[in-house]
Amino acid sequence: MNLQGRHFIDPNDFTLEEIQSILDLGLEIYKNPLEYDDICKGKIMGTLFYEPSTRTRLSFESAMLRMGGKVLGFSDANTTSVAKGESIADTIRVLDSYADILIMRHPREGAPKLASQYSSVPVINAGDGGHQHPSQTLTDLITIQYYKGAISNLNVAFCGDLLFGRTVHSLIRTLTKYPKITFTLISPKELKIPHHLRLDLMQFPDIKIIETDSLEEHISEIDILYMTRIQKERFFNEEEYVKLKDSYILNRDKLVGAKEDLLVLHPLPRVNEISYDMDDEPRSKYFQQAKLGVYARMALMALLLGVTK
Ligand code: CP
Repeated sequence: MNLQGRHFIDPNDFTLEEIQSILDLGLEIYKNPLEYDDICKGKIMGTLFYEPSTRTRLSFESAMLRMGGKVLGFSDANTTSVAKGESIADTIRVLDSYADILIMRHPREGAPKLASQYSSVPVINAGDGGHQHPSQTLTDLITIQYYKGAISNLNVAFCGDLLFGRTVHSLIRTLTKYPKITFTLISPKELKIPHHLRLDLMQFPDIKIIETDSLEEHISEIDILYMTRIQKERFFNEEEYVKLKDSYILNRDKLVGAKEDLLVLHPLPRVNEISYDMDDEPRSKYFQQAKLGVYARMALMALLLGVTK
């Protein structure tokens, strides 16, 4: 699959076959990492993080270093000339001559798309506001593929903040490409999926969608339970956040009646929504998910850079 030179801004930028080729390569690298340990020799990855991150930035860095490349970048835009008022366009027009691939997180929706329009090297959206987070989606999908063998015929439940959760938006959009997926959307009424995503889903009349505020009522039907953090930073007022922040707290008691092969996923960071007693529950796979994200990102960058073993 030739993805050389492409940007990855929105999950819809890639076809199902293209996404699947990234996942397949990611799992191949996971099984045989030493065969890929120098494929990015001579390549430099630039990280432009205008918003906090642990996993996304460091897993991209780990991915590039594990392929023999080098990394540069910033994790606090206030230490750069952004603080002097430099535009995204000018920042990109400079950095695309310092690096071969750019990874960008920004609080403003659409900022990575804008960056891609000024960049001569591939740009990857590492999260833009409450909009999209497509490389997290690759992390989520590679985990489902690893544990379930295939991404089809699954009831995937999303629980928590479906309004502001960009990981939810990207994963739902991408799962519409896969066969026989049922969506169970569990949220308080204030945090239901956004209107634009609802319109997207209406294009797929065959997809079954269940909307509810009750996890307990549906736990026995679910194959994948994707828990999410209530996104405090996207709320317009503190009072509303406080009212909703503990809407769902998953613990072992809540799994009564759940399938034995349920997967509990979470993009992390978690706050209160998964109790610590869940961490050694065999169905909890959120830390393995974060680990597999490194391999999904290795595959993504290898393909966008057009490097092979
Ligand atoms: N999942 C995720 O995006 O985590 P970080 O915010 O730590 O990068």
